[in-house]
Amino acid sequence: MFKTFYNEVKNIMEKDPAAKNMLEVILCYPGLYAVLFYRLAHRLYKRRMFVLARLISQIARNLTGIEIHPGAKIGRGLFIDHGMGVVIGETAEVGDNVTIYHGVTLGGTGKDKGKRHPTVGNNVVIGAGAKVLGPITIGDNVKIGANAVVLKNVPPNVTVVGIPAKIVRAKDNNVVYLEDYVI
Ligand SMILES: CC(C)(COP(=O)(O)OP(=O)(O)OC[C@H]1O[C@@H](n2cnc3c(N)ncnc32)[C@H](O)[C@@H]1OP(=O)(O)O)[C@@H](O)C(=O)NCCC(=O)NCCS
Repeated sequence: MFKTFYNEVKNIMEKDPAAKNMLEVILCYPGLYAVLFYRLAHRLYKRRMFVLARLISQIARNLTGIEIHPGAKIGRGLFIDHGMGVVIGETAEVGDNVTIYHGVTLGGTGKDKGKRHPTVGNNVVIGAGAKVLGPITIGDNVKIGANAVVLKNVPPNVTVVGIPAKIVRAKDNNVVYLEDYVI
């Protein structure tokens, strides 16, 4: 447990240039506690202790302003900066080393049943206020601009901005743009 705590603190120090030392991270980063509470709630959810898991997630929400459903699947190194207003839905999946700013929603459109929240790849940055909606896939190394609304799959290695989100930058000339992707 101590190792998990240490790793989460170290992750924030590596990702946030504003973090001056470990004490500051421990005392002043709500994202740290939201992720730690989520990890506990997710374990309980997997053991089918749904109400207790949900209760822990709601306590975390009241403390931090960040709501992560215990059913969401989240990889290593998630950094939620500032945090207030972040919502991550039950069937969302988040890869490794993802950074999420305040006001981000990984949510449903209200039209889908079952898998209804996004799947986010590794090393993705999701800007403040962005909404990523529906059972769509966000590729590895994608940057989502602040306040974007993403409604379609996003290929890896691109930047998307706007409402609805469109690609403004592709690092990789070999990106294949399929019909169901943002263009
Ligand atoms: C999108 C972002 C990642 C920049 O990516 P980038 O690949 O470096 O892109 P650029 O800055 O070169 O911008 C490319 C184009 O998108 C536009 N753009 C950039 N961010 C945008 C946004 N959030 N919404 C709409 N358009 C945006 C730029 O004006 C530029 O347009 P132009 O080509 O017509 O001049 C960045 O602007 C952003 O939104 N980051 C989120 C960071 C954040 O939320 N910080 C909160 C800290 S508290």
